[in-house]
Amino acid sequence: MKKLLLSALLLINLLSAQNATAQQEKYRPQFHFSPKAHWMNDPNGMVFHNGTYHLFFQYYPEDKVWGPMHWGHATSKDMVSWQEQPIALYPDSLGYIFSGSAVVDTKNTSGFGKDDKVPLVAIFTHHNPVLEKQKTGRHEYQSLAYSLDEGKTWTKYSGNPVLPNPGITDFRDPKVSWYEPQKKWIMTLAAKDRIAFYSSPDLKSWKSESDFGTDAGAHGGVWECPDLFPIMHDGKQVWVLIVNINPGGPNKGSAGQYFLGDFDGKTFKSYSKETKWLDFGADNYAAVTFSNTGNRSILLGWMSNWQYANQVPTDPWRSANTIPRELGLKTFGKELYLTSKPIKELDILNGTAFTEKNLMVKGQVDLSKKAGNPTGLFRLDLNIQKVTDFSIVLANKAGNEMIIGYDKATNQFYTDRSKSGKTDFEKGFGVKHTAPRFSTDPNIPLTLIADAASIELFADGGLTVMTEIFFPDQPMSELFLKSVNGVVVSELKYTALKAARNQ
Ligand code: FRU
Repeated sequence: MKKLLLSALLLINLLSAQNATAQQEKYRPQFHFSPKAHWMNDPNGMVFHNGTYHLFFQYYPEDKVWGPMHWGHATSKDMVSWQEQPIALYPDSLGYIFSGSAVVDTKNTSGFGKDDKVPLVAIFTHHNPVLEKQKTGRHEYQSLAYSLDEGKTWTKYSGNPVLPNPGITDFRDPKVSWYEPQKKWIMTLAAKDRIAFYSSPDLKSWKSESDFGTDAGAHGGVWECPDLFPIMHDGKQVWVLIVNINPGGPNKGSAGQYFLGDFDGKTFKSYSKETKWLDFGADNYAAVTFSNTGNRSILLGWMSNWQYANQVPTDPWRSANTIPRELGLKTFGKELYLTSKPIKELDILNGTAFTEKNLMVKGQVDLSKKAGNPTGLFRLDLNIQKVTDFSIVLANKAGNEMIIGYDKATNQFYTDRSKSGKTDFEKGFGVKHTAPRFSTDPNIPLTLIADAASIELFADGGLTVMTEIFFPDQPMSELFLKSVNGVVVSELKYTALKAARNQ
């Protein structure tokens, strides 16, 4: 009995110690991946292999600001709880390890496989700081590394670089995938103001196929981190080309645009030259999809923006990723759009929930009492009827407010983080952002996911998405629905979310 009591006491102590560390780390995301310490930017080399999801990331292990880039590494069984692993790739004599992708070379086309071990191959940009200083304009080129032990250790290919620079200053972020109809690898590469497509039988020798984009899409900044993959829609294969851009996003700074079209192994033909945005919030950059996930297209982005990424007030780390999102396609009017939805695996975080039907919101409705959730980690699913102006307000006793709303006159969704807590680290941070509504449905379905320092809004089944980070003085333990003229929430489901870290 005494023994039992002692171990119970020990457990309580242990738990409260864990809690204390979590609380000490102000702003620490509880179910978004963030490194234990130091600087992180783009997700890299995301790949599913032998039951494990691998996430690599741009990482500088010596400081909280951007520096000589490494590939950090984390693994997960469900894309929700991540375990940080030792650094996968270190800078070398060819340069820093910039962004790129990873593939499972099942057919051992590269010849890196040994003793029936299937190689994981990383295709990344070497960025050479010495050549950069010499202004050769040829300081970025593509290289390979492979792993035969589930991504634990990596060997750089002795023939690097595999794709030298043809004289383009920004020549980076290769995303490679297998093109089955012609049994070859396709590399989608960002080349300053366009996308360059290359092909290869073995990942080692690359041939130029075509270019896309000098006359299409947004060009308010340099093109970076592309992705190319098909999605089936009404029995037809539609190719999605993602092109991240910095600056020049719809709400300033970094953002991701996409094109829909056809790809024949050589050329990408876009249905339209207009820009469509993956996310209208300020904090989803360098988003690309996982490799080797069958017919699921799962997108993950860096939840920050180059406009202020180096200044955000977190310690001892900087930056987190978005939640993984499942992509689909949906026609609205004459236009086809990409939709983003939280992956179903996130449901493992679900805690206590409550529902409401036909809730009239005129003035304000306080959901906090019913929610009884001091952590402020939740998912809110709403269906709004009789649509007029409304807002969802995350708040706390310190007077912070993170507002997410809809404005009928402009038919726009918006976020406002001007009073969301700490905003003074960069002058453009504490502002209002807007996003168009595409759907003409009289009802607005919304899903909102809130972590300690972020919200992700999926409106109209993921047609309009907004991702925003914020830094409240205390957890956002309060939640209000507001509407001056009154809306009816025909269905509401509030689900408290559990932390995923350290599981
Ligand atoms: C995008 C980016 C990439 C580059 C990497 C460097 O955020 O600028 O184009 O490879 O970050 O860290």
